[in-house]
Amino acid sequence: MNKKNTTQNEYKIALLPGDGIGPAIVNATAKIINKIATQLEFKVIFKSAPIGGAAIDSRGCPLPDETVDLCKSCDAVLMGAVGGPKWDNLTGNMRPEKGILGIRRELGLFANLRPAIVYNALKAASPLKDSILGDGIDIMVVRELTGGIYFGKRRSVYRDEECIAAYDTEEYTAYEIERIARVAFNVARKRKKMVCSVDKANVLDSSMLWRTTVQRISKEFDDVELSHMYVDNAAMQLIRNPRQFDVVLTNNMFGDILSDEASQITGSIGMLPSASIGSSSLGLYEPIHGSAPDIAHLNIANPIATILSASMMFRYSLSEIEAADRIEKAVIKFLNLGYRTKDIASGSEVALNTDEATNYILDLI
Ligand code: IPM
Ligand code: MG
Repeated sequence: MNKKNTTQNEYKIALLPGDGIGPAIVNATAKIINKIATQLEFKVIFKSAPIGGAAIDSRGCPLPDETVDLCKSCDAVLMGAVGGPKWDNLTGNMRPEKGILGIRRELGLFANLRPAIVYNALKAASPLKDSILGDGIDIMVVRELTGGIYFGKRRSVYRDEECIAAYDTEEYTAYEIERIARVAFNVARKRKKMVCSVDKANVLDSSMLWRTTVQRISKEFDDVELSHMYVDNAAMQLIRNPRQFDVVLTNNMFGDILSDEASQITGSIGMLPSASIGSSSLGLYEPIHGSAPDIAHLNIANPIATILSASMMFRYSLSEIEAADRIEKAVIKFLNLGYRTKDIASGSEVALNTDEATNYILDLI
């Protein structure tokens, strides 16, 4: 991929810490990125901007123009999480979540990659039996990110200031499905070469279009095996027999739900990174978990999902594959050595706090 706006070996990274545990995990990850940059002799310039509740408080809206402009001027974006009780009563475009949805859309990030890996060392943290986990789970959810019901026509109907009816619409064009399908098939080519497309084609017109379009695009990838599954069955199969999946391709809403489900198989949502990419190399990297306001400022959040998101950033936006591999290896070593944060500690295992975990991972890089 082409590197943009930079001389060689210098990367501008936008940091959007957001709310709750967001600042702590982004800060931890920035330390990891700095260490890798020193080791591999490239330069990183961080630029921070507000998003979500933090932006509502300081700028009056969840996604200020300056944040969008900053992201567009950078090579990659690293985000924490948004939202919290303080902003829970806000509605419509003032909700903190509109910050995330808006930046995905503004940057044209139509493809969301969410790997769910059960690390051997963490098998005990998974709620699934050993017989189901077998020799490990490695699923990549490819979620469409800028279409579907999240962005379709919607309306709330009020009578005497009381909402009496509302609708949201699931809308897809063939073009939107084609481009996300190609992402999924290309990802599968570098893995076990299997794509399972998840839809609700027995009920929804939008899903029938999804299925026929994915079928058509699959002809460009005859080395990849395509199967289809209804979303209700997929939710069940993820628990019953998760090892059957390699790449799961699905729409915005089903992907939101199934990726949370997949995360639980791995033991903790605190472990799962994500990459949101589009047609240029500029991507946005964030943990799939939320802002966890209940544990904000307690220094106990698991920074691994965000640290692994930085690894995805090196892989997909900056083409620094060695950096990506080193981060992943350090995290695996950390787990194999028995280090745990609170969310992944089971039985008598001692839990490290966020700073301690970050420092151990830094040492292992
Ligand atoms: C996610 C989150 C977001 C989504 C919310 C915060 C808008 O749940 O990234 O999975 O629904 O996409
Ligand atoms: Mg979600």
